[in-house]
Amino acid sequence: MTIHLPTRLAAPSPGWTIETDVVVVGSGVAGLTTALHARAAGYRVLLVTKANVDEGSTRWAQGGIAAALAEDDSPLDHERDTLVAGAGLCDPKAVHVLVTEGPQAVRRLIALGAQFDTDETGDIALTREGGHLRDRIAHAGGDATGKEISRALVAAVSGRSGIEVIENALALDVYRDRFGGVQGLTLHVIGQGQRDGVGAVLAPAVVLATGGIGQIFSMSTNPSVATGDGVAMGIRAGAAVADLEFVQFHPTVLYTGSGASGQQPLISEAVRGEGAVLRDDAGVRFMVGEHELADLAPRDVVAKAIMRRMRDSGRKHMWLDARDFGLEKWERRFPTILMSLREHGIDPTVDLIPVAPAQHYASGGIRTDSHGRSNVRGLFAVGEVACTGVHGANRLASNSLLEGLVFAARIGDVLASGLPERHNPIDPSGDSAVLAASARRSLQAAMTEGVGVLRSRDSMATTLGVLNAVGETTSDDPHVQAWETTNLHALATVLTANAKMRKETRGSHWREDFPNTDDIDWKVRLSSRLGEDGILVTEREPLTVSEEVNWGTR
Ligand code: FAD
Ligand code: SIN
Repeated sequence: MTIHLPTRLAAPSPGWTIETDVVVVGSGVAGLTTALHARAAGYRVLLVTKANVDEGSTRWAQGGIAAALAEDDSPLDHERDTLVAGAGLCDPKAVHVLVTEGPQAVRRLIALGAQFDTDETGDIALTREGGHLRDRIAHAGGDATGKEISRALVAAVSGRSGIEVIENALALDVYRDRFGGVQGLTLHVIGQGQRDGVGAVLAPAVVLATGGIGQIFSMSTNPSVATGDGVAMGIRAGAAVADLEFVQFHPTVLYTGSGASGQQPLISEAVRGEGAVLRDDAGVRFMVGEHELADLAPRDVVAKAIMRRMRDSGRKHMWLDARDFGLEKWERRFPTILMSLREHGIDPTVDLIPVAPAQHYASGGIRTDSHGRSNVRGLFAVGEVACTGVHGANRLASNSLLEGLVFAARIGDVLASGLPERHNPIDPSGDSAVLAASARRSLQAAMTEGVGVLRSRDSMATTLGVLNAVGETTSDDPHVQAWETTNLHALATVLTANAKMRKETRGSHWREDFPNTDDIDWKVRLSSRLGEDGILVTEREPLTVSEEVNWGTR
């Protein structure tokens, strides 16, 4: 089946222009850290973000950040656990970079002012999460790790001359030059005065740090800004995207009722790391015997076990039992989750917590080398929007904050050796379109129904049918929700097509009709690129160590 997508968003012509050296899109852990490193390399940096500077998944992160900081731990152990979780599809070089440079990246964050919880000896307190064979998760404020990281990074960026931040600024599409490289982007600002409406940002280096894709599903742990804009921008720019079919569903998301939609409260895996267990309606601990790590098995294993029980019993959720913790431990270790449970009328010291899997993380994204470079000169991607190959078919818990820190620093290293050359941007060509914002609900429902935790050829074919119909609902009213919906559609289409193509079960990709892992035909990475004609080409990339991208002198 041929997939045809617009190569740019329909938008008004730019009414204003800014020139800078490096433009960073997104203000989560990845974007803020990149901005600091790019500035340290001596460049003028413009950081644009579509809502307030502290919005994004980063500030919601609960469990913590994984790094081999303990004396009885080592990067090699962390590497092994990451590779196991990735179910054979990790890029070994990228994983090696992550685990060896991770501890230093966390120490840099501490030097910047982030305060992690400590134990009675004053050392960083470390806990465990699913798939980790060591205690290596550093946390802050008990379960408010992301909030503390965001606070420290926003403070560092705010005080830094040479970094300009524009909030309420939605990046639309990149500019290209005649050699195919990137030369900045178009930006829609809800501002005042000169910088209002659509404008042009001219820069020879564009760093996409736009985070996750959660809003392509009806329910997700991700905030509302997670509409996959960066992946969609990358696709339209001709960047290769990979591993999109590997969507991680977090096993223990609070079940708030069958009609729930949008961002849902997470019950951190660290709650199981501290001893909570899963039970079914009869009180049976069903993870025992499923996996040697029982309730702390990798995330996909736990999510599948919960889904199977739900399917077999006809129930909408299972139960998490943390009654043993007692109030003191709940207040000290998980104050944010405790507050959220109370808001839903649950007292976890006496009640079981209803939980069900929901979308949580995109393991795939814009394919980069181990310095954040995409195949398009001048275009970088970092954080959840990127596919460095670190996560393979399933991300190991608490590896994503770390990935943002480590690879942002590496982009800083590349920039320090020189900017890509500046050229004039060329007038955009190709088909442009914007979809009606009202199509979002049917798109989300179709993705949830057909490309959720459990997938089959028929379920995904039905979803592709809905997506085709949604693609016809073009509008002549470009605005923020309509642009976001157009991005969701592009991303959902490529993700579903690739998920349908992958005829096996591996990591977080679970197919009812192909229940086994197939290492003979499917130990490959699906990599897709949109041609200038708007036709999507998908290739089976052999699973070798990633080559460093060489953009040459242009
Ligand atoms: P984000 O933090 O999501 O930031 C993306 C930024 O891009 C935002 O500022 C957004 O507004 C902006 N943006 C998006 N599109 C545009 C656009 N078109 N124009 C301009 N700006 C745009 N990971 C861990 O390692 N440990 C954890 O404990 C953990 N817990 C989590 C708990 C929850 C509830 C969630 C949702 C995620 C959790 N994760 C955790 C995952 C982790 O938080 C994210 O993967 C990580 O924070 C992503 O960082 P990021 O900088 O890539 O993106
Ligand atoms: C959690 O706290 O369970 C989330 C951790 C993660 O997504 O890495």
